[in-house]
Amino acid sequence: DFTHPLMVVVLGASGDLAKKKTYPALFGLYCRELLPQDTLIYGYARSHIELSEFRKKIGSYLKGDENKKKAFLDLCFYHSGAYDKKEAYDEFNKILVDAESKMVKGSNNRLFYMAIPPSIFIDVAKGIKGSLISSSGWSRVIVEKPFGRDLASSRELISELKKLFPEKDLFRIDHYLGKEMVQNLMVLRFANAVFEPLWSKSHISSISITFKEDIGTEGRGGYFDQFGIIRDVMQNHLLQVLSLVAMEPPVSMSAEDITNEKVKLLRSIQPLRLDELVLGQFVGSKDGKYPGYLDDEGVPKDSKTATFASQVFHVNNPRWRGIPFILKCGKALDQRKTEIRIQFKGPDNFLFSDVDRNELVMRIQPGEAVYLKLLSKKPGLNNTIEQTELDLSYRSRFENLDLPDAYERLILDSIRGDHNLFVRDDELDVAWQIFTPLLEQIESLKVIPEKYEFGTRGPASADELAQKMGYVRSKQYSWPGQSKF
Ligand code: BG6
Repeated sequence: DFTHPLMVVVLGASGDLAKKKTYPALFGLYCRELLPQDTLIYGYARSHIELSEFRKKIGSYLKGDENKKKAFLDLCFYHSGAYDKKEAYDEFNKILVDAESKMVKGSNNRLFYMAIPPSIFIDVAKGIKGSLISSSGWSRVIVEKPFGRDLASSRELISELKKLFPEKDLFRIDHYLGKEMVQNLMVLRFANAVFEPLWSKSHISSISITFKEDIGTEGRGGYFDQFGIIRDVMQNHLLQVLSLVAMEPPVSMSAEDITNEKVKLLRSIQPLRLDELVLGQFVGSKDGKYPGYLDDEGVPKDSKTATFASQVFHVNNPRWRGIPFILKCGKALDQRKTEIRIQFKGPDNFLFSDVDRNELVMRIQPGEAVYLKLLSKKPGLNNTIEQTELDLSYRSRFENLDLPDAYERLILDSIRGDHNLFVRDDELDVAWQIFTPLLEQIESLKVIPEKYEFGTRGPASADELAQKMGYVRSKQYSWPGQSKF
């Protein structure tokens, strides 16, 4: 495929996602020489923007060599047009065909990246189908969440998209699946014989999957307020991680077999309970430095949308019955990190009681690492026990570490036609089945999120909930790698 010309079409090219993720990822692939030799990138959106201005805007988000940046921007073009008019897409197609006629000869493959809000999803998909499909090569479509707001709207979206494109041409992104450590989960779990015997309720007491951001909703308040943190992060990114951590070993490494196991696991999740949920919404920091959620321009002053959520999940299968999975995500917290924390039961003897727990931590970001917290005698003339760790920090262990962004990997896979890291439609369906009843309860009972201050750990009730679930927090220990971020 790499000898054929490629036209990447970014729909919604003037938006936040395109600027921050899509173009930088395409630039990353360009720098690694992983784009087909003859590639052009056409942005499409409603706003009229001069090409020079568009390139300047995109360029300000690219990091790296200035000459490469310039060469990359020379491949980027922009066309403005309506999202809901066939004539606009027909006109755009003429421009694409004309540009393609000057590219190398071969099948004219087209990759469409829909970086657009859900309200215009179907219009744009119809526009692609009606006017923009390549006449000589493949046409693939990358779509991004939110895939609906609930089960009904997600099903509608799935079925509308299915009418337009075959599953093989659709690539539903959950960018967490493209993260290095998330990919490593399969290897860590199934290539290391030491873990499998421990990986169950017999030895594990709880599993926490935590996503923290130290920024608010800056500039995205309008979008965020319609969805909230559960739909924005938990229903997709964290649930994907949960299914990979907890699933049974798949029959093979094929996308089909792995997804089958994930779906099976998701179907074993018990109904989510409101009394095992903590919701929060951030207020400005006391020193006035950081604004509250309601100060965001796009957010209604009386919004009840949660920017923090912690929910306990119970998996009703022989491996996990009785073990809580504590999922937590929040914006405007004390630090930025995403991690999986497997807490083991305490030692089963009379020698050591009340000691800190062993924990296996898989740190997804920033600073990819896997570390195992364990107890050791403090060296020297004493009998003190100390919490320490076996630490596989990527930056110190692997030389010249240069990890591609998740989006780079996913865009590359879609060019290669590899579906492994994309979300299957039935997987999405089960995810909504799990969350929709809870979201409906939150809305119908008008659950008010607890206030928490910008830059803190979030509502104290979340720590209480975790403790109630048996999670033991060791207050003295801090991972040495943490100080580097
Ligand atoms: C996106 C959410 O899907 O993921 C954002 O919409 C969130 O709200 C982002 O900030 C987090 O991605 P990452 O890769 O920075 O952890």
